[in-house]
Amino acid sequence: MSYREFSEEQLPQLTESLNELVSELLAEKRENLSWNSYGPAITPEHCEQQVTAEALVEIKRKCAQQGGFLDPLDQQSYPSRARHSGDANYMSFKQWLKNRGLWKQGRAYEEISKVVVGARHSGTYWYPENGYMGWHTNENHSGQSRLYCNYAAEDRKSFFRFQSPDSDEIVTSWDRKGWVFRYFEFGDTPETRLWHCVYSSTDRLSFGFKAGSA
Ligand SMILES: [Fe+2]
Repeated sequence: MSYREFSEEQLPQLTESLNELVSELLAEKRENLSWNSYGPAITPEHCEQQVTAEALVEIKRKCAQQGGFLDPLDQQSYPSRARHSGDANYMSFKQWLKNRGLWKQGRAYEEISKVVVGARHSGTYWYPENGYMGWHTNENHSGQSRLYCNYAAEDRKSFFRFQSPDSDEIVTSWDRKGWVFRYFEFGDTPETRLWHCVYSSTDRLSFGFKAGSA
């Protein structure tokens, strides 16, 4: 498995360019973002439960029952299992970026392109309080890598959690106030499969990018 984290200090130019977007985005009315994956009524208890070690055991059991697939419908579309299952609570700001001419252009995009060759967006998620994305592996994108730029409004109130394929240990990587940059690769074998999930009890912005050649 390949997973690495980078700090604001390691990527200062990218941090600065992304900071230019953050205050405007956080000031946006939530109603102006996509609510396709957002439910304002989702409770803190539900959110916390979906990212536990017990939830992972249950999801793996369900996968095993469904021929290895997290969503049975995926069998029609994917050769391998467990893209994210829709078990999530976030707002998308994809259209917000497009409306401002910041899709594949602008300073932040130029800076990310210096780090990720031919960068393409692969996630534009605003996790509010009670935000989460349940356990999944992204195996439908096996062989690809991602750089996620994660902003948190408060210290240690949101996290990226994963199960190390090397040891089966569950690792919780808490966000710091500001930016954490996370690089990881998706595999589809027991040695490379990366089960992961996201939790937030603050405002957490996630800008995901993949290399253009993938
Ligand atoms: Fe993912």
